[in-house]
Amino acid sequence: MNDGFVLRPIGALDLDRASALHRQAFEPLGERPWTRRDMAELLASPGVAGLFLEVEGREDGFVLWRTAADEAELLTIAVQSGRRRHGLGRALLASVVERARHGGVRNLFLEVGADNAPARSLYAQAGFVEVGRRPRYYQRHAGFADALVLRFTLTAGG
Ligand SMILES: CC(C)(COP(=O)(O)OP(=O)(O)OC[C@H]1O[C@@H](n2cnc3c(N)ncnc32)[C@H](O)[C@@H]1OP(=O)(O)O)[C@@H](O)C(=O)NCCC(=O)NCCS
Repeated sequence: MNDGFVLRPIGALDLDRASALHRQAFEPLGERPWTRRDMAELLASPGVAGLFLEVEGREDGFVLWRTAADEAELLTIAVQSGRRRHGLGRALLASVVERARHGGVRNLFLEVGADNAPARSLYAQAGFVEVGRRPRYYQRHAGFADALVLRFTLTAGG
């Protein structure tokens, strides 16, 4: 237990809940939701791990990331829509950073829609910096959005 929430690994029995969380978070943005099968394939691929954040037994958020040698990539992160702005996204992100650091990762990368103000603000607050841009990377309901490539450099101490 930690500040009223629990983190637990996403396993083979959690595919429906994980894909439902992904759907509710990304469909409104116009992104294709990941199916149960997408989740299963991702979680079975090398270096991929996932965590649920639970509050009072409810899975209110989740995160997936991939580690390869001393680099990691945040694949997705989402918080249930009615549960946002309570620090859960920040806690999920911090848990990935902590695990990455313990695993010897030096750089953590991610992609975020240039039009995704909440996520950009979360990452900026955590210390991510922009290192690239992929034009028209995301298809939205109304056109396209650029992807920003962000990097967080981990240091040994903190
Ligand atoms: C991005 C997301 C995970 C943030 O989760 P959250 O639990 O609401 O975030 P937190 O409460 O931990 O907020 C941490 C910081 O992020 C920023 N933030 C979060 N939501 C924000 C919003 N709606 N507007 C502006 N800043 C926001 C703020 O800097 C906030 O710090 P503050 O509350 O001290 O101001 C959530 O909005 C979400 O699931 N969005 C849909 C999926 C998505 O876009 N994922 C990221 C894809 S790259």
